[in-house]
Amino acid sequence: MKQSKSVLTQESKRKLIAKRDAFFRKVSDQGIALTYDDVRLTTGYSAIMPDNINIESKFSKNVGLKMPIVSAAMDTVTEAEMAIEIAKIGGIGVIHKNFTAEEQVAQVAKVKYHLNGLIEKPICFNENDTIKDILENRKERGFRFHSFLITDSQQRLVGIMTKNDFDFCEDLSLKASQVMSRNVITGNSGVGLREAHRIMQESKKKALPLIDKDGKVAGLYTFSDVKRILSGDSKTFNLDKNGHLRVAAAVGVYDDAFERVEQLISEKIDLVIIDTAHGDSKGVLETLKALKKKYDIDVLVGNISEPESAERLCRAGADGLKIGQGPGSICTTRIIAGIGKPQVSAIYECAKVAAKFGVPVCADGGLKYSGDIPIAIGAGAHSVMMGNMLAGTKESPGEFRFHQGVQYKVYRGMGSLGAMESNKGSRERYNQGKNDLVPEGMEGMVPYKGPLREVIHQYIGGLRRGMGYVGAGNIEELRTIAQFVRITEAGKAESHPHDIIITREAPNYQKQL
Ligand code: XMP
Repeated sequence: MKQSKSVLTQESKRKLIAKRDAFFRKVSDQGIALTYDDVRLTTGYSAIMPDNINIESKFSKNVGLKMPIVSAAMDTVTEAEMAIEIAKIGGIGVIHKNFTAEEQVAQVAKVKYHLNGLIEKPICFNENDTIKDILENRKERGFRFHSFLITDSQQRLVGIMTKNDFDFCEDLSLKASQVMSRNVITGNSGVGLREAHRIMQESKKKALPLIDKDGKVAGLYTFSDVKRILSGDSKTFNLDKNGHLRVAAAVGVYDDAFERVEQLISEKIDLVIIDTAHGDSKGVLETLKALKKKYDIDVLVGNISEPESAERLCRAGADGLKIGQGPGSICTTRIIAGIGKPQVSAIYECAKVAAKFGVPVCADGGLKYSGDIPIAIGAGAHSVMMGNMLAGTKESPGEFRFHQGVQYKVYRGMGSLGAMESNKGSRERYNQGKNDLVPEGMEGMVPYKGPLREVIHQYIGGLRRGMGYVGAGNIEELRTIAQFVRITEAGKAESHPHDIIITREAPNYQKQL
């Protein structure tokens, strides 16, 4: 990729850093802390084309990102499906800890083995489903592919519907059994990637279903996936040194951490996160030191919002920090406990300290629009963690809900009553026992947004545009040269569309609920 070069000298960069420091010092001297809606980035001279910008970054000291978005360790956001897709787009997913250790390890394994190219649970339709049913279901679930396996009532493979079958079908009321192709080339369960490639190449078939000894579907290879893996055509993929997708997992403190890490390491986890609501606490610091002593693995720690906490955790060996106490869309911590610091100031202050130790920071929670990403990074973050902004995607594990004819997905706080009542992991994150729970989060739903890839395309598009306006050619430059201006309520109102009845939705702008 042709990369845009910065025109700034070291001296002008130093001046810009000093100017931003002065801005935040002035604000904090008044006892004020700012968040996303309080600020905007100022425009700088730019010779930069948004498409030539390098958005690679770091999640922790030794774990890189091809793009700086991380999916939150929440049970309505990140399980294997989300982690696989986000790693393919260049980010990383953090598998939540409301799973038992064994379940969490199984999720990590799914991500790590994904690039075997085998779709373990392919989408199947029944032979009696009509073509209309299938097409509607495909649209509803946001599938972009057209190959579906067709089974009988015993889940035995009887045929396949391909793009050609759909294209040439003129009567949508026909059943799949009347339209599907029946001469399906199959492999036995256990067929590997190269063998699958050979069979598909020889038979000129773009899909190879695997069947078990009873004729039931046991997996599916598709030619495009297999070819891409074998030809190494995976430019955006965030891969470990063995060519597997990167993935992270959340752990608790003390025994919980050790039980999980011991098993996660055997699945080659890329890093673990000691994920608590209060990262600057005895249990977290002791667990961090013990993990770093015993294992050769990156440990990221959170959450914090004060520079003193950042210093303590960096000194204790943290490889990354997660900033954010109460900014999240489902958080009530600030309201029920009265604590926390508005996010942009928290990021700036913590990142300033972490930089002295060479420790990357992740801005966790509170983002509402793509424009909040360059703001978070401009304040010093290396990456952003999103819950709400990813919870409505096809890949999130949240259930679908219909409300007044609109499709939503469930999204809940890890400290919500529902999450804490049913999960030890949630209770431990908020340091609570089994009874008399005091929730620190809410349960709700967010509009369904479709496939993650399309959603992230808009978020990254916004980041690139922001970097273009600032004049930053890469993430490190944005962290260095970004300048802020504080805005008023009138400035905020002016920033959003106003004095217009919106007649067409844009894919990157929705009024907040
Ligand atoms: P967003 O704004 O992206 O925030 O929805 C996601 C982040 O919020 C944190 N989180 C919580 N914080 N109570 C809280 O105070 C909760 O119940 C809760 N659940 C998640 C978490 O850091 C997540 O990444």
